[in-house]
Amino acid sequence: MAPIIYAHRGASKAAPENTMPAFELAAKQGADGIETDVQLTKDQIPVLIHDENVRRTTDGIGFVQDYTYKELQELDAGSWFSSTYSNTTIPTLDQLLAWNKKKKLKLNIELKNGVIDYEHIEKIVCERIQAHKMEKLSVISTFNFKSLKRLQKLNCAIPYSYLTSRRNPDLVQLAKELGVTGLHIRYRLLSKRLVEKAKAEKIYTAVYTVNHPFSIARVLRLGAHGLFTDIPSLAIQIKKKL
Ligand code: G3P
Ligand code: CA
Repeated sequence: MAPIIYAHRGASKAAPENTMPAFELAAKQGADGIETDVQLTKDQIPVLIHDENVRRTTDGIGFVQDYTYKELQELDAGSWFSSTYSNTTIPTLDQLLAWNKKKKLKLNIELKNGVIDYEHIEKIVCERIQAHKMEKLSVISTFNFKSLKRLQKLNCAIPYSYLTSRRNPDLVQLAKELGVTGLHIRYRLLSKRLVEKAKAEKIYTAVYTVNHPFSIARVLRLGAHGLFTDIPSLAIQIKKKL
């Protein structure tokens, strides 16, 4: 199984990111897991969309947090990508978790609380994962240091990982202090030394966002635990050849 190939925002090179069609396609292509991003609506519903603002990936304007779930469902989340996807809406976290009951893929649920630090997002997401009994297949990740501290305090029995693009000589030590299971690092931080140092402390490394064949092969060769790619079909093909 390892290294785990996560479809980043679903198979997002070929279908609109963070939508059910992108997740379906990732599953069809044989991805091991789905990576997705969570924001909260005005009525506290966790929804899957990367940006705080709906402008880039829907036909609407404004912030996710200013829409109720019902209002958000009116938006078209597929046409910006291709007219084929014009009936696509922004999925909820619950939709993905229910869909995954049969697929049984790994889920990397990223809390998008770097710009807007949504109150209670950690608890809300933990509860939804638990409600669907998806604890064993899920990992929560975030760039937000304070949020990691809150996850540590929450102690909700779902692994959580530190997402980072910053160089830090003591990344593994920091990971230990935060109680994280993994380090989700930007490709430029990847080194054999870091992968091995983390492994020695039973902390895994997963690398984002890797779309170039050379980089994909390098991640796999260095023994990282996983990678995030917009093109899961390509990563799977390379993994088979190595
Ligand atoms: O989880 C890895 C990666 O998705 C983090 O960056 O901006 O694509 O959410 P971003
Ligand atoms: Ca993400």
